[in-house]
Amino acid sequence: MKGFSLTYDGFDPPGEGLREALTSTGNGYLCTRGAAEWEDADGVHYPATYAHGGYNRETTIMGGLPVLNEDLVNLPNWLVLKLRIEGGEAIRLADVELINYRHELDIRHTMVVRELRFRDHDGRVTTLRSRRFVSMADVHHAGIEWTLTPENWSGRVEVVSALDGRVTNHGVARYQQLEGRHLDPVSPRTFGPEVIALKVQTRQSNLYVSEGARTRVFDDSGEPISVERSLYQMEDYIQQVLGFDVHQGSPTRLEKMVTFFNSRDPATSDTLERAGTSARRYKDFGEALERHTSAVTELWCACDLDVPGDDRVQFLLRLHIGHVFQVCSHHTADLDTGVPARGLNGEAYRGHVFWDELYVYPFLNYRMPEVTRSLLMYRYRRLGEAQAAARESGLRGAMYPWQSGSDGKEETQRIHLNPLSGRWEPDLSHNQRHVNAAIFYNIWHYFLATGDRAFLGDYGAEMMLEIARFWASMAQFNPERGRYEIHGVMGPDEFHEKYPGAHEGGLRNNAYTNVMVAWLCRLAQEVLSLLPASRVDALRGRLGLRDEELSRWEDMSRRMFVPFHDDGIISQFEGYEHLEELDWDAYRAKYTNIQRMDRILRAEGDDPNRYKVAKQADTVMLFFLFSAEELKAIFDRLGYPYAEETAHRNIVYYDQRTSHGSTLSYVTHAGVLAEYDPVSSWERFRVALESDVCDVQGGTTQEGIHMGVMSGTLDLVQRGYAGTQIRNGVLYFAPRLPRQLERLRFSMQFRGTPLRVEFAEGHLTLSVHSEGVSRPIRVGVGDVIHELCPGDQRTFVLSTDNDLVHDV
Ligand code: BGC
Repeated sequence: MKGFSLTYDGFDPPGEGLREALTSTGNGYLCTRGAAEWEDADGVHYPATYAHGGYNRETTIMGGLPVLNEDLVNLPNWLVLKLRIEGGEAIRLADVELINYRHELDIRHTMVVRELRFRDHDGRVTTLRSRRFVSMADVHHAGIEWTLTPENWSGRVEVVSALDGRVTNHGVARYQQLEGRHLDPVSPRTFGPEVIALKVQTRQSNLYVSEGARTRVFDDSGEPISVERSLYQMEDYIQQVLGFDVHQGSPTRLEKMVTFFNSRDPATSDTLERAGTSARRYKDFGEALERHTSAVTELWCACDLDVPGDDRVQFLLRLHIGHVFQVCSHHTADLDTGVPARGLNGEAYRGHVFWDELYVYPFLNYRMPEVTRSLLMYRYRRLGEAQAAARESGLRGAMYPWQSGSDGKEETQRIHLNPLSGRWEPDLSHNQRHVNAAIFYNIWHYFLATGDRAFLGDYGAEMMLEIARFWASMAQFNPERGRYEIHGVMGPDEFHEKYPGAHEGGLRNNAYTNVMVAWLCRLAQEVLSLLPASRVDALRGRLGLRDEELSRWEDMSRRMFVPFHDDGIISQFEGYEHLEELDWDAYRAKYTNIQRMDRILRAEGDDPNRYKVAKQADTVMLFFLFSAEELKAIFDRLGYPYAEETAHRNIVYYDQRTSHGSTLSYVTHAGVLAEYDPVSSWERFRVALESDVCDVQGGTTQEGIHMGVMSGTLDLVQRGYAGTQIRNGVLYFAPRLPRQLERLRFSMQFRGTPLRVEFAEGHLTLSVHSEGVSRPIRVGVGDVIHELCPGDQRTFVLSTDNDLVHDV
């Protein structure tokens, strides 16, 4: 099938880091970079494995001060397979003459494949084909297969098969000065002649991690061949060397079947015992691969976006879906984890969870809602910590951290390195309290898509109420204006942390934040009306929620302050209007890439806070998250004007002042422009699609893929272009399909009922599956609402401007 392969021909050392991140393989529990099995971490290669929730804190002394950081830990390297021919040194890509070299991510099967034909120093030509996967069927399993064919020689080879716990976190150059050692050795062990295993422990969080590996060799006819095995072990490393003969022209197959367990896993006593036993019982590569591919196929059936009209777009969408699976699959639903903003294949942002969930959940809500539910539970389990954070800041309710890791404490660093200037600068980004509004929004949208009242009643509402309460305690009433204000925060635009020259961090009245707060203050009350009276009483009793608080929320929903420029543009924050305009042309002429204008300005001794320059969509987020009708209702209630042209005017205004230094910004702008400027929307969509595969930020993707942009592009297809939206329990379609998406097919589920959506030749066809828990659903096309029952199929004609006119 088309669009299922990311292939690189030829070895390119400078590009290897990017390739490794993009060809990672994972199963929503753990993920491993696409490094070659035989390479060590050396500046070109960075083999690394990360598992959800595998955090550890370490302190670094910097400038005499202790700096504490929590990192997602690079776990022992299970890949290690090294080939030694006739007693020579282990083969490395840089040391042999590569006659052919191909490195591929088989997206369809989430498998990484390498094929190389090389000539060594002694003129021997050898072909090596490697395939490996992390099982989507058996969550604790992975496998590597090598097929080795000597082309012009016969002789003895040795293969080193190891589990290497000597790894550290050093995948991000900017963090080099920070402590990267997170693992302590526990013990190596063998389980019979074929299985080696290794146990390590994280140094502070005391997480045990064990891996097991069973390595065997098979001849041409599939029979195991007897190999000479020798063992070497240290406290944090174990290897077996397998010696065997290979024959000219005859392929020999080697399998390394690997298992992983950590002390967070259910049904586990000693992780080492589990890993070793499981490796001994593990299936052959062929059978294990079959189980894996059938599990992946099931995922594709639920999640594929089929775009027959544009090969490149098709490929990129599938690459993104494949990467989403690696971080968020059905296995994730059993874990206590959030979505690390940079996936599970690099160390940027230390595996922390940000507001980027906002871009990830919409795709999951309609396909794997049980995964969103579990990811929201990550927040629920950290509600206590968020309540404590609010209390300790003299506030009430729940104040979730900007960056979250193991236990929900604030993990945002207080200083960060500007790679342009080489200086450590204060980091005030923890003031992005808007993450709390995003969590509220996510809970609500999960509920809209699933109708999961049990979740709302048991967990969701409590978080929503506590978030509303937090905002109410943060807001102050300004009697002069007769409005509520919020001070000391940052919006999503990270270039503005404070007023120019100010010592204190934070800004007054970020419009995005204040409008979100007005919206959620109203909704928090509506949520109560959705729950049974007994549940409301219990919740109110537990939280001590008084009528006066509810009245205050009601008042805030009508009287939050929103700053405007004199000409009616919504001010990103109070005072923004008076900032200086940046000379964009001059900076574009001077620097090839001005996305990170903050770093450029600071390196020049200047300050981005002085200028009308945004890193990413801030005010524009409003038009991305809410429909025009919803925003009009919010503004009407607040008593502010909201005209037909408000959205477009503001989008254009801020677009001209945004450097798109975050990939999220392209997604947002593509989404909001879909209605007003389809050509420009498509251009942004294309940049967002290409941003990881082409590493548009010049070096960030090798440090981890961007989950927000990858998932966000998928959401753009369903929401921005197919125009799905839920209102009053109805799933509406208001398509704005660009020419390239005129043919588009995907599956989704709405409130538990799976349906197939197909756009083709000016028609929209909706087919409701009759399987499983299907129930009738209500869909809206144009202004008409239709009830579709399981088994129903309905086709609607699209008018030329994509509006739906009637059904056929
Ligand atoms: C963006 C944030 C985002 C974070 C993690 C930053 O560069 O500005 O909005 O949450 O990256 O992806």
